[in-house]
Amino acid sequence: MKTEVIRKSGTGKKGKTLFFCSNCGQQASKWLGRCPSCGEWNTFVEEEIEELPNNASTFRYGGAPQSMAAIEATEEDRVLTGIAELDRVLGGGIVSGSAVLIGGDPGIGKSTLLLQVFEKLAAKGLKVLYVSGEESARQIKLRGKRLGATASEMLVLIEVELESILARLDELKPAVVVIDSIQTIYSTAFSSTPGSVGQVREAAGKLILFAKKTGIPVFLVGHVTKDGSIAGPKILEHMVDTVLYFEGDSGHAYRIVRCIKNRFGPTHEIGVFEMRDNGLAEVANPSAFFLAERPEGAAGSVVAPSIEGTRPILIEVQSLVSATSFGMPRRTAIGVDHNRVSLLCAVMDKVCGIHVGNSDIFINVAGGVKIEETATDLGIVAAVSSSFLNRPIAAGTVVFGEVGLTGEIRAVSQSEVRIKEAARMGFKRCIFPGKVSGEKNKTVKSGAIENKIELIPIRSLGELLENIF
Ligand code: TYD
Ligand code: MG
Repeated sequence: MKTEVIRKSGTGKKGKTLFFCSNCGQQASKWLGRCPSCGEWNTFVEEEIEELPNNASTFRYGGAPQSMAAIEATEEDRVLTGIAELDRVLGGGIVSGSAVLIGGDPGIGKSTLLLQVFEKLAAKGLKVLYVSGEESARQIKLRGKRLGATASEMLVLIEVELESILARLDELKPAVVVIDSIQTIYSTAFSSTPGSVGQVREAAGKLILFAKKTGIPVFLVGHVTKDGSIAGPKILEHMVDTVLYFEGDSGHAYRIVRCIKNRFGPTHEIGVFEMRDNGLAEVANPSAFFLAERPEGAAGSVVAPSIEGTRPILIEVQSLVSATSFGMPRRTAIGVDHNRVSLLCAVMDKVCGIHVGNSDIFINVAGGVKIEETATDLGIVAAVSSSFLNRPIAAGTVVFGEVGLTGEIRAVSQSEVRIKEAARMGFKRCIFPGKVSGEKNKTVKSGAIENKIELIPIRSLGELLENIF
């Protein structure tokens, strides 16, 4: 069985080989079923490693040590893409000389977004180069037509060989470069196949070096791959300056671009887009977008303000509690942590008499958003209680806060921002872990409209149940 998954990449004479995890790049001298670093199964592939005598020298800057005081550094130069959602995720535009990795499932919209960005940059008179190893020039033109991106400043290069791409870059000196995708690029210095860990690292390394030397920003597109034959973008995360991932599935219209690493700005910022016939459209008001199809007055649905990056977004947490038909009750959580749900159910069972121990529990964050912060704890508890008791949550109510193991409610960061967003969206009551002596009402102005929101601070799960219905 084992030998089936070992793929021998590379041709020619047999040299020294090592095994690499195609998900995270972990190296091993023998084949492993499960990667000890990222925990993925069946991702190890055998690759030949070449020891080129002058290989190391090609990765050299060739500089001498400089005094820290003598290094000239003004505020980093940034170019705004003109797509506000993306500019915010990048930390305020594209930094010159930066390498940005854009990862995501195939078909999620990476090429579409970059083509739209290039259209905006070309409209500013910047010369941009789109290097594609996946599509023909005609395909790119057809897509460009659909997106209205056909400016003459946009150059398209169909090429997969790293050395000729670098030669072209030196010759053209564009303002911004996209490599779509890094997994199709190969270097002739290596005999392993395109998409192997060695090739992807080599190509990315050379392109990043090019960006640093010339100050030209480079975008690298990387497909998230499920099978082990092609190296995933994860192996490049430590090499680049900024890592963006596309989230959302092809079934939903919305797409979230999440920043998970940024050397030039805040991380965990998100940009929300909607896929339309003519490309990706920005969603300037994500709260309204995610609450659009919310059922009013239905048991098991609650709205919780969550913070994504620097921005508050109202999300809808839904729950369905039903009697279990088999011996083992099921807990299914989509969009929130499964273990967290089990923990909260146990606390509810023990502390406030919501005995869900023998019920199947399903939790879903509407719209397919993924929430990682514990501030949604109260939202989950409220949704489960509402479905269990079959009583709808009072209209116009939002809840947020962390729940401890003894049923106490703990404060979370940025309460003010969450309350403001809830008020802005027209909610009337906010249940949260606030100071009891705090103000009772808050008025938030958005434009000409003034919204008043009643603040209900609580300390325990019991108080939550007294106030939500
Ligand atoms: P694409 O950018 O090719 O994905 P990736 O580069 O990440 O692999 O996205 C292709 C998908 O987007 C495809 O399923 C069709 C859809 N799409 C639209 O819905 N509208 C559009 O205007 C375009 C260009 C694509
Ligand atoms: Mg593509």
